[in-house]
Amino acid sequence: MLQSKIAGIGYYVPKNVYTNQDLTRFMDTSDEWIQERTGIKERRYADRIGETTTTMAIEASKIAIERAGTTAQDIDFIIFATLSPDYYFPGCGVLLQREMGMGEIGALDIRNQCSGFVYALSIADQFIKTGMYKNILVVGSEKHSFALDYSTRGRGVSVIFGDGAGAVVLQPTTEEGKGILSTHLHSDGAEAEKLAMYYPGASGGIWLDNKPEWPEQELGGMLMTKEMLEDGTAFPYMDGQAVFKKAVVKFPEVIGEALAKNNLTPADINLLVPHQANLRIAQFVQKTLRLRDDQVFNNIQRYGNTTAASVPIALCEAWEEGKIKDGDLVCLAAFGAGFTWGSALIRW
Ligand code: UT7
Repeated sequence: MLQSKIAGIGYYVPKNVYTNQDLTRFMDTSDEWIQERTGIKERRYADRIGETTTTMAIEASKIAIERAGTTAQDIDFIIFATLSPDYYFPGCGVLLQREMGMGEIGALDIRNQCSGFVYALSIADQFIKTGMYKNILVVGSEKHSFALDYSTRGRGVSVIFGDGAGAVVLQPTTEEGKGILSTHLHSDGAEAEKLAMYYPGASGGIWLDNKPEWPEQELGGMLMTKEMLEDGTAFPYMDGQAVFKKAVVKFPEVIGEALAKNNLTPADINLLVPHQANLRIAQFVQKTLRLRDDQVFNNIQRYGNTTAASVPIALCEAWEEGKIKDGDLVCLAAFGAGFTWGSALIRW
């Protein structure tokens, strides 16, 4: 029976550091407020020009591929998770394929926001288990900084997010009990509009309670207009409290589901790597599951919330710091827009 193992892992974050204090130049906020509510001290922003979701993904992928002892030309499938693609379409997968000189392999882009990487890993796991592919590149990358409202109006959303990329190469293993043990994916669209970027989109706003009345609605809402920028509807919307409330329930639930499936308990986890949504959420989850500090890895303090990139960046940093050893039980878990959530249990 084939199982999938993470054969190589890498991450990349842009060099530009923006501290909480730096953000006070643009909006009415404070280091104290941001740290108290989110744990974040600083985040990275990509260069405005020249650095994109794809270029960051390439840097992370190069490291993952090298550590897997393989080459870009040996990769036989790409799964790219992002909510901030270089183009509305096509997705970043084909850009990465082209720029890395890969063969004419399949490239799948997925849009599951903060759970994007866990969803991508689960898809890759199925392809490896069936023997269809042998070297899958799974990427999570985000350039949030291009579309955040840096005025005081947007402070509840913009202070949280940062840019970066993480990647893994998944390969088959026949080693008994090693690799990805199981993955668990969920969604509930009941609160889809509570964390979303509505435009540009083809709906013309029909799902929204307070549909703005611009003349452009006649065009189906596809266009980004001056009015949208002025009234803030062009930017991501988040009902932070609704997200928080759901996240603190669904994180423990989906971690518990993964443990139960494998007849394990929280005490068996060597390292939980939760999506870095908010340090307070991670701490709540830790407390609920009664995990010690050394059983949970967080790095949101330095990078903010990098959505699809946060799990692979954190996983890679933890591994580089020697916090993941051969035979360890590693749990990945994520929750985000959609809502979507998921977990993966890995015997390293
Ligand atoms: O990956 C999934 C993505 N999202 C999340 O995980 C987010 C989950 N939610 C959260 O992390 C929190 O809800 C936030 C950190 C986003 C917000 O914290 P909160 O405790 O829910 O604050 P709030 O939105 O209820 O706002 C409280 C006050 C408001 O002022 P008033 O109305 O009480 O006067 C806000 O205007 O804090 C104000 N505020 C800020 N003040 C300074 C909101 N953002 C800021 C800010 N700096 N950046």
